[in-house]
Amino acid sequence: MQLSRSAQLRAPGVAKRVSRARVAVVKAAKTADGPRVAIVGITGAVGQEFLTVLKERNFPYSSIKMLASARSAGKKQEFEGVSYTVEELTENSFNDVDIALFSAGGSISKKLGPVAAKAGAIVVDNSSAFRMTEGVPLIIPEVNPEAMSHIKIGKGGAIIANPNCSTIIALMAVTPLDRVATVKRMVVSTYQAASGAGAAAMEELRQQTRDVLDGKPAQPKIFPQQYAFNLFSHNSAMDVELGYNEEEMKLVKETRKIWGKPDVRITATCVRVPVMRAHAESINLEFEKDISEAQALEALAAFPGVSIINDRTNNRFPTPLDATTKDNVFVGRVRRDISREDKRGLDLFVCGDQIKKGAALNAVQIAELLLK
Ligand SMILES: NC(=O)c1ccc[n+]([C@@H]2O[C@H](COP(=O)([O-])OP(=O)(O)OC[C@H]3O[C@@H](n4cnc5c(N)ncnc54)[C@H](OP(=O)(O)O)[C@@H]3O)[C@@H](O)[C@H]2O)c1
Ligand SMILES: *[C@@H]1O[C@H](CO)[C@@H](O)[C@H](O)[C@H]1NC(C)=O
Ligand SMILES: *[C@@H]1O[C@H](CO)[C@@H](O)[C@H](O)[C@H]1NC(C)=O
Repeated sequence: MQLSRSAQLRAPGVAKRVSRARVAVVKAAKTADGPRVAIVGITGAVGQEFLTVLKERNFPYSSIKMLASARSAGKKQEFEGVSYTVEELTENSFNDVDIALFSAGGSISKKLGPVAAKAGAIVVDNSSAFRMTEGVPLIIPEVNPEAMSHIKIGKGGAIIANPNCSTIIALMAVTPLDRVATVKRMVVSTYQAASGAGAAAMEELRQQTRDVLDGKPAQPKIFPQQYAFNLFSHNSAMDVELGYNEEEMKLVKETRKIWGKPDVRITATCVRVPVMRAHAESINLEFEKDISEAQALEALAAFPGVSIINDRTNNRFPTPLDATTKDNVFVGRVRRDISREDKRGLDLFVCGDQIKKGAALNAVQIAELLLK
């Protein structure tokens, strides 16, 4: 596609409108000089979301390989007017692949990610398998693209990791402020949607809501506690010694790696709320330098991929529904922390779609950086 990749990354909202218009004219982004792409886990929910985002952004490709387990080999997968045959994922799947988007679970990534990279493919991995591995860049394209600038198509294989959804959503809002006044400490409280735990969890929320409204008992299956008309501490594994769950620790460790600041102080409380799709986060920040509300809003407005909803008069701020299916992360409630006597504290409220910017979109944006 002709619109420069950097322009797209600077202004995803604009790029999306442009690419939609192009889709109407061009129909498909299949082009002889595009990279050879593979999607691992094509029959899964995440694999399908990858196809949606590739199409929305008119991602160029010369060929596309649809990979899944032996169970799905031979199935048909339609994409941009072409019918593809799903192939079984093997160690030999990657000899003719430039970019491989992996989403078949952490164990497949662990086993075949390095095989694909050895065969010369650049692996963009949506699992947590390699996020904290030294030498594997952990990338949010708007935040730290420089960490993958040494990786180029045709110059040897590599693995690039996609961060956890809560980390991506928080850092889209906090990075522009960090650049103005340097974050010293961050306190995050999340309000996480059902979609983060997959399609079955969304169905559990629907079913329990119906049952409770009908006067029947809710029947917990995926989550240990009642989900409808309730909320609970995030269901990821708890470190009994420390008292933090995995989701909270990912926010801490991934932020330090992405910012390249091993000492930044972060604490988090992650909670699952009965919202269908899109996460919300309340964030309290302490800075090294003074920062005013106006400076913060200015920095947020200038940051690509961020939209502001901050209408105090009408008490209108971001909601998960505002963010649902949207590419951008929404920020509001930007205010001075009145518990401090200096001008070095701010509070904000952030909402982002965890399937879009929280996963598939971020991975495809990483692939777009490789085209530059
Ligand atoms: N969707 C979510 O919100 C969510 C949330 C948390 C974690 N996850 C994890 O993320 C991963 C992908 O999620 P998903 O929702 O897309 O899962 P999914 O719907 O179960 O799809 C998994 C995909 O991986 C493929 N796969 C499984 N085993 C394979 C193997 N041995 N070799 C090659 N391909 C294999 C499947 O192919 P077949 O169709 O051939 O089996 C399918 O395409 C899963 O591990 C899931 O546990 C997903
Ligand atoms: C991959 O992306 C999906 C959303 O597209 C997300 O829900 C899932 O947790 C991610 N992780 C893995 C291991 O695939
Ligand atoms: C983020 O981490 C949590 C906790 O380990 C996990 O349940 C969730 O699937 C992860 N999301 C992504 C996008 O990897």
